Amino acid sequence: MAGKKRIAVLASGRGSNFQAVLDAMRDGRIPATCVGLYTDNPKAYAADRARAADIPVTTVDYSRFASREEYEKALLRELVSCNPDLLVLAGYMRIVGSEIVKEFTGRMINIHPALLPSFPGLHGQRQALEHGVKVAGCTVHFVDENLDGGPIIVQKCVPVLEGDDEEALAARILEQEHRCLPEAIRLFCEGRLSIVGRRVIIR
Ligand code: GRF
Repeated sequence: MAGKKRIAVLASGRGSNFQAVLDAMRDGRIPATCVGLYTDNPKAYAADRARAADIPVTTVDYSRFASREEYEKALLRELVSCNPDLLVLAGYMRIVGSEIVKEFTGRMINIHPALLPSFPGLHGQRQALEHGVKVAGCTVHFVDENLDGGPIIVQKCVPVLEGDDEEALAARILEQEHRCLPEAIRLFCEGRLSIVGRRVIIR
């Protein structure tokens, strides 16, 4: 459809963020169409969600490649062939290789369950809890060659409450992730984001 951006999503697991994006598209909150769900994990529930929404699923099964480089090459080939305007990492549990970063610089975003630059990498929620912070949250950022280090688009915060365990905090953050990711995608699709140095300017 004219004016609609093409979005590809890369996910490894449950896919609740992917679902939030699909719901936002369906409700007209994001002027885009999802052209494919890509996964490294043949058992990802995200793939079931895609099939239920009639979105093509491409599995590039990491375990079937002899090396990380081979896997990355195959994934890059698939991603390029669907020609997305934006590549969304929605619970993609691998580090994105430099060839993919290069190809999609400025048009690849990631959702991370912590207020970056605090607590990058795995288990952001657990790291926050163990550090004893009083406020936690989530971040959507452009992806560059630094792990969870690219320019920040949207952040949302939640309180850390007495008695929180990792599960309780993760659930509170996840609710905000489901708002944050569609919001960032909408801003991108409306052409309202520009990257200036480390900053993302929102018009
Ligand atoms: C989310 O917490 C996301 O921030 C992180 O991995 C989790 C994926 O959850 N990168 P889901 O697959 O979207 O439900």
